[in-house]
Amino acid sequence: MSSLTFGIIKPDAVKKGHSGKIIDKILAGGFTIRGMKLIHMTKKEAEGFYAVHAERPFYGELTEFMSSAPCVVMALEKENAVKAWRDLMGATNPAEAEVGTLRREFAGSIGENAVHGSDSDENATIEVSYFFSKLELV
Ligand code: CMP
Repeated sequence: MSSLTFGIIKPDAVKKGHSGKIIDKILAGGFTIRGMKLIHMTKKEAEGFYAVHAERPFYGELTEFMSSAPCVVMALEKENAVKAWRDLMGATNPAEAEVGTLRREFAGSIGENAVHGSDSDENATIEVSYFFSKLELV
């Protein structure tokens, strides 16, 4: 059965003009885009989104970066969407990401790593609903 996951094209990738190429790879990878918008998060919105990382040493840097410029938020549908999107993104650290993955191709560092994806179905539901209302999902 198909399921939803949540993805972000992060500010580094948007700024470098990689959004179109990343969306092409999402479509070529067999995902159906159910929701997509360009937003510019406030610091507070980024802090809320990454609240699970609040105790991590990189929380300040992460939320500063995510609210520094626009990003593209997406609700993506596919069979086993969470795993499929994580496979397409590659490892969090681009130095460890496999050839052919988005992070290998577009990410510069662990902090500015081009894309985000949910890590479980449960978090996908929470993350999609953080950014999208029911009416915005087609
Ligand atoms: P993301 O999938 O958006 O989820 C949490 C983010 O924290 C992660 O991608 C990285 O961009 C970031 N992150 C993880 N580890 C570090 C780190 N050691 N230093 C800075 N940022 C990190």
